[in-house]
Parts: sequence; C-alpha cells; structure tokens
Amino acid sequence: MSETPTLPAFFRLVALDAVDSTNEEARRLAAAGAPEGTLVWARSQSAGRGRRGRPWHSPRGNLYLSVLLRPKCAASGAAQIGFVTAVALGDTLRRFLPRDAPVTFKWPNDVLVAGRKASGILLEASGVNADRLDWVVVGVGINVAASPGDVPYAAMSLSESGAGDTSVAEVLAVFAGCFLSVLETWQREGFEPVRSRWLEHAQGLGGPVEVRLDHETLAGRFAALDEGGGLALDLPSGGRRIVTAGDVFFPHL
Ligand code: BTN
Repeated sequence: MSETPTLPAFFRLVALDAVDSTNEEARRLAAAGAPEGTLVWARSQSAGRGRRGRPWHSPRGNLYLSVLLRPKCAASGAAQIGFVTAVALGDTLRRFLPRDAPVTFKWPNDVLVAGRKASGILLEASGVNADRLDWVVVGVGINVAASPGDVPYAAMSLSESGAGDTSVAEVLAVFAGCFLSVLETWQREGFEPVRSRWLEHAQGLGGPVEVRLDHETLAGRFAALDEGGGLALDLPSGGRRIVTAGDVFFPHL
C-alpha cells in the first residue's frame, strides 16, 4: 500500500506528518467551513487527548485520525455516532487479526482485543442550537504498532495481537471503508441496527459492573444499552439507572 491511501469519495484526506491533535485540527477546519467527510490523519500528535480530559500517548506507528461530520441531528443523536464508530472499528480490527481473536466493545466507546484496549474514540461536537448540531468531530486512535505502557488500564496493539506487520495507511483505508458503511446504515435505518451489532460483542453485558461517574460510583448489573446509547444499570436496590457518561470497570478484567 502506498504511503497515502485512497479513501472512498466521501472523505477529503488531510494528511499531516505531525500535529497537536487531529481533533483540534478538525475543529479548526470545521470552524473555517470545511465540508463533511474531511478526515485529518497525522503520523504523530504532540497533544493527543482522550476522554474525560486524559492525554492520549501518540508516537509514530499508531493511527490517529479525526473525521468531520455535519449530521442532521440533535446533540442527543451525537452519542449514537460513537457506537457507529465503535462498530466500524470492530470490523476494522477483525480484518487484521487472527480469526479467533476476541474483539469486544466496552461501554461507551472502547474497542478491546482479548479484554485489552486497542482503540479509543473521542467525540466532540458544536451546535448551532440545542436541536441541530453544526459539526461533530469523531476522533479515533488505533494502537497499530505499539500499546502505551503507562496507562491505568490493560492496553493492546494490533501487532501484539497477531496482526503481523501492518501499515498505518492500510489500517486507515480499511477503517474509512468500514466507517462509511456503518455510517450509511445509521443514516438509512437509524440506531437500531448499530445498537444490535454493538450488543452482539458488548463486554460484560448481563454481568456485574462498576460505573465511576464524576462524583459517585455505582455498582450493579449491566442490563442493556438504551435507545440513546445510555448504559442501563440494574441497581441492587431494585431500581434501574441510565448512565450517559462514566467509566466502566468489570470485576473480572
Ligand atoms: C479515549 O480516551 O479512549 C479516546 C482516545 C481518542 C484518541 C484519538 S487519537 C486521534 C484523535 N485526536 C485526539 O487528540 N484524540 C483522538
């Protein structure tokens, strides 16, 4: 595969050697009027960021990209795009991994290989008003060549999972195709098919889970994914709580 991959016509590739953060660059382009489908790809990031204000270690050799979307939906619909992206990432990783490698989804947006995080998603959005988003930036990091050692969770890379020698450009091209396909399903048929594909591979569904929120920690049973992408948690007291933001921990991982 050449160094600059050919992507489906939906995408306009902005390929950079280095950047602060592809999400930041995509936000700048969005504010300057860039069209939907703009995809910022960088070989390395000096200020890569993860969910909940955490840094995302971004050396050369892994994949860092951000796609700009201008979806015709309210802010509540933006969360669904995270699940669209996770399902597309699952399809992407499976193309490179041995047939029996277990790829699972950890709520809300992590993709795990053998229970270890191989990919993360950072969604950022801006609205013209509450009912209509102006843009959504979908940031994706895939550990291709290496996984970070200094993170508070178990991490994995494609090369450590048996994918062999895989080029970042090749992973980008496969992801772009998978992402467009799942995005079009979502646009055509709504969240349900995406939700059910995510649930097929949901880590810990039906089992005990701990969810850490900003100011409290909840324990219960991971009962379902609701229609908006919220985690339905059955509490020991008998009630059910829908969680829309937090970090999930499983007792057995
Ligand atoms: C997470 O915390 O799991 C989300 C990680 C998202 C990292 C990607 S790398 C490309 C894009 N640019 C960033 O600064 N972050 C996202």
